[in-house]
Amino acid sequence: MEIITTVERLQEVAMRERAAGKTLGMVPTMGALHEGHLSLIRRAHEENDVVFCSIFVNPVQFNNAEDLQKYPRTLEADVQLIGDLADYVFAPTVEEVFPVAPTEVYDFGPVANVMEGAARPGHFNGVGVIVRRLLEWVRPHKSYFGEKDYQQIAVVKEMCRQCRILSEIVPCPIVREPNGLAMSSRNRRLSVHEFETAANIHRILEASKQCGTVQEIKTFVESEIGKIPEFQLDYFELADAETLQTADTLDNPHGVMGFITVYTGPVRLIDNVKY
Ligand code: PAF
Repeated sequence: MEIITTVERLQEVAMRERAAGKTLGMVPTMGALHEGHLSLIRRAHEENDVVFCSIFVNPVQFNNAEDLQKYPRTLEADVQLIGDLADYVFAPTVEEVFPVAPTEVYDFGPVANVMEGAARPGHFNGVGVIVRRLLEWVRPHKSYFGEKDYQQIAVVKEMCRQCRILSEIVPCPIVREPNGLAMSSRNRRLSVHEFETAANIHRILEASKQCGTVQEIKTFVESEIGKIPEFQLDYFELADAETLQTADTLDNPHGVMGFITVYTGPVRLIDNVKY
């Protein structure tokens, strides 16, 4: 594995591998890697000749300075975990990626305006800014994203459509802790007690599958989350699995999903469930 820190070298090796007829897989991450990331990297390894993994805490997608400052940075441990699963790890500085502050303003349409888009203004624009750059520099055949950030996948697909980026976007299933909590780099910030409490998010979503209607599901989830004093619900939305617009009925050709964001102490955790 080669660790790359410059965009010039990144483009050089990617172009060389492509010219040699290799298929390229890309896994963009912000580091603090866990089994969820490793499942993406393993899949990229299985499906491509050459794997690129980026580790970059992208400042322009944070709309909260404290969240950016507290975001875990564990490059050495990340590189150890990746081992031989990736051929290239791109770990640049902020100045390397953004020699000047980016000014792009996208309109990713309805998929980007609801839920995380509404709760975190500018977040998806920042995701679009970095993912576009990474995919244009590497030009991977396939790029891998985890379904914990389900809405992010819809936004990235829309960005690729608008910017004519031809990489196939491959959604990968959520990986969970043994207690059911969706794996996230932010889980490291939970105390032992908060970590155990946070397992209730998945438990409640799973239990809500017993409800018969959208209204029953909403009432059930909101009341069950409300019973746990450590939790503060940001939102729980039922939405069309493709358009991500509010679903009024479970009878929907694309399927309906529940999307939840809960503060557990200071940590914002997100999860989703398919009905
Ligand atoms: O999902 C993430 O970790 C980030 O949003 C991504 C896709 C690496 C862009 O910074």
